[in-house]
Amino acid sequence: MRTLRDFFERNRRWAEKVKETDPDFFMNLSRQQKPEYLWIGCSDSRVPANEIVDMLPGTIFVHRNIANLVIDTDLNCLSVVQYAVEILRVRHIIVCGHYGCGGVQAAMEDREHGLMDSWLQNIRDVYSRHRERVDAVEDERARIDLMCELNVIEQAANLCRTSIVRSAWQSGRELAVHGWIYGIEDGILRDLDVCFTNLDEMYKRMG
Ligand code: CO
Repeated sequence: MRTLRDFFERNRRWAEKVKETDPDFFMNLSRQQKPEYLWIGCSDSRVPANEIVDMLPGTIFVHRNIANLVIDTDLNCLSVVQYAVEILRVRHIIVCGHYGCGGVQAAMEDREHGLMDSWLQNIRDVYSRHRERVDAVEDERARIDLMCELNVIEQAANLCRTSIVRSAWQSGRELAVHGWIYGIEDGILRDLDVCFTNLDEMYKRMG
């Protein structure tokens, strides 16, 4: 109960395996991190950032929360974005949602979820902006999946509106905000055809 010994054994085996391919891997990483990507994803255990794109430690700076939200009062998320953009100078920010997201589903339900409801309210705001289109979908699962997609796009747009991303663009930095969605059922990542590289692109898309 107190030790979770299995975790430590698995860790040793994993570290050995990585060192077999590259003996200096950890030593090199310990000197610096130079990730080119910031990943903002859902906390869902089935959507681990590095694993689903088969990338090693050191490649992706990660922030995850319930339903991959970018809220302008969330100091946690904004601090991650600021560090990634201003210090690590990442070139790409990926907002990655997933189909069948429990957070999105909970937000669409007509019942109370306690403390979490104030967080889920941000998803309800997305719903009210797209109510007509979403309500036109009869199948419940398809409706939630559409909401998962719309939520990614809205969060990517929220990211573009932050002072951090805006000032990076204003100073002429190359920085792209992408919107992707992952299928838990097939393990496949899909591009939602969202790629904002300046404010105009975002406003054009978001209307
Ligand atoms: Co989720």
